[in-house]
Amino acid sequence: MCGIIGYTGYRQASEVLMEALKRLEYRGYDSAGIAILSPNLSMHKQKGELDRLRVRLPKIEGNVGIGHTRWATCGKPSNENAHPFVDCTGKIAIVHNGIIENYMQLKEQLGLESNRFTSQTDTEVIVHLIEKHFNGNLLDAVRLAMNEIKGTYAVAAMVQGSNELIAARKENPLVIGVGVNENFIASDVTALLSYTNKVKYVMDGEIVSITPDRIRIFDPEGNEVQREDFVVTWNAEDAQKGGFSHFMLKEIFEEPQAIHNSLLGALDIIKNGDILPNVQFNSIKMIACGSSFNAAMVGKYIMEEMAKIPVTLELASEYRYSPGAKEFPLVILISQSGETADTLAAAREARRRGCRTLGITNVIGSTLTREVDEVVYTRAGPEIGVAATKTFITQLIALYIIAIRVGYAKRALGHDSMWGYLNELRKMPGIVQSVLDRASEIEKASNILVEARDVFFIGRNINYPTVLEGALKLKEISYIHAEGYAAGELKHGPLALLDSKTPVIAVAIQKDLTYDKMLANISEVAARESPVLAIGCEGDRELAQLSDVQISVPCVQPLFSPIPVTIVFQLLSYYAANKRGCSIDKPKNLAKSVTVE
Ligand code: M6R
Repeated sequence: MCGIIGYTGYRQASEVLMEALKRLEYRGYDSAGIAILSPNLSMHKQKGELDRLRVRLPKIEGNVGIGHTRWATCGKPSNENAHPFVDCTGKIAIVHNGIIENYMQLKEQLGLESNRFTSQTDTEVIVHLIEKHFNGNLLDAVRLAMNEIKGTYAVAAMVQGSNELIAARKENPLVIGVGVNENFIASDVTALLSYTNKVKYVMDGEIVSITPDRIRIFDPEGNEVQREDFVVTWNAEDAQKGGFSHFMLKEIFEEPQAIHNSLLGALDIIKNGDILPNVQFNSIKMIACGSSFNAAMVGKYIMEEMAKIPVTLELASEYRYSPGAKEFPLVILISQSGETADTLAAAREARRRGCRTLGITNVIGSTLTREVDEVVYTRAGPEIGVAATKTFITQLIALYIIAIRVGYAKRALGHDSMWGYLNELRKMPGIVQSVLDRASEIEKASNILVEARDVFFIGRNINYPTVLEGALKLKEISYIHAEGYAAGELKHGPLALLDSKTPVIAVAIQKDLTYDKMLANISEVAARESPVLAIGCEGDRELAQLSDVQISVPCVQPLFSPIPVTIVFQLLSYYAANKRGCSIDKPKNLAKSVTVE
């Protein structure tokens, strides 16, 4: 969602801001803007892609500025509603990510005090509140303004005549980039990778002041606090396309490496017992949104099979409103970004209910890591495409590892079975690579989807959640309506929708308990003349006879089949969306990091 950048130093601020905003594009946005002290405040904002702002931007000299990519929540996407916003004197400017809940009351009150409002946004009240409290000290004015606000925010502010930037956060991400004779603030580290790999994370409720040679951080009580620098291991190249036509394709092709890195980290967990040092819980609850929720669903099968422990699932957006039975499961919260507002709220609620919490995330230093008792990192590297690909696959890896750890500790798994599973996991980078080697075959197979209006994905057992993820991927980037179904449910309703124009993608993995039943379900589909694209094991002739197109994956134990099958789904979705000319990395209406509830 919205991206924030602030710069104070010796470089041309306009160049830094535009470069950083480019890096923040992946978060999702519909307008962008910057404000620079030149030395008077010069502000430029534009609805639409960043390039529309770039071509309209005059040459602006100045070394201090703030910038923003907006993902509309309050007020439609337009030039007027784009950030930054300035006060009535035209000297104070701010950018904001989050939602101000009491903005109507504040707007009414400030309007009476003859403030001019130029937009329909909630954000604009912030700059007028700061103006109200400003008497030469921006830090104090921001603090007083934030005290009047109800809601969530990451805010950056500056005032004409000063090289100081003030920033504040509540439940929205904010990080300080540490430079030499220059400093930065940003929504996330990817914005900073061209300039620095040293960061300081800003905690909830804190306010910071940065100048080119000084960083000060204040806790909610106003006390100055010291914060260690954190060195980020991602580099600028990791966040570039590297010759691929889209980030999504690059990120799919990075999956063997991502799995390898994820396994390296995870194996320490097994060897050292780093996480879950005691396993005094009798059940697990997994909570997440979107693709991360689909990973959790796969995780339920894995956990129940390997660790023989009951698992329940809850969507993060529902959990905090659920009655909450008197039970104390281990709560596992899964979020690639670690910033999804619903998942963070669920993490807080789980703790409030007295549960032990474990987070699975890809982003070191993300808010989730501070809201849970223990963390497992997926180590997939930066993921820029809005569609979760390598982060989804590495979430599965983390779940296999946690299941093995819990299963072994609870004696549900013996030594040999544990090593059997670990050895199977070690094969996964190679298995995935061999699916990627069939990319051109999968590209050809995607033709079956390109003209479709509706597509059904069917699977059973552990590949039921896999098909939910396949359908989510396809609809998200190709805008084709897609539904994932447990194949046994077809005849309870959706069969009525099948005809020769409705392709069905079916997963049937030999040796899976449900394999024969899947073949029967595929026959039912074929009888309705739906074109069938089947995904199954290499050499499965029976499946080939039932389907119009078959994509084979290497034979693995059924429990691990979601990994190769998902890679096929990701590639199919990518190629279908590409042939339809869709905006693959930044699908309409979607954001990478969903920081509002
Ligand atoms: O960062 P998170 O894993 O918490 O994000 C959750 C969902 O917003 C995310 O998985 C979304 O569904 C993806 N765009 C799917 O590809």
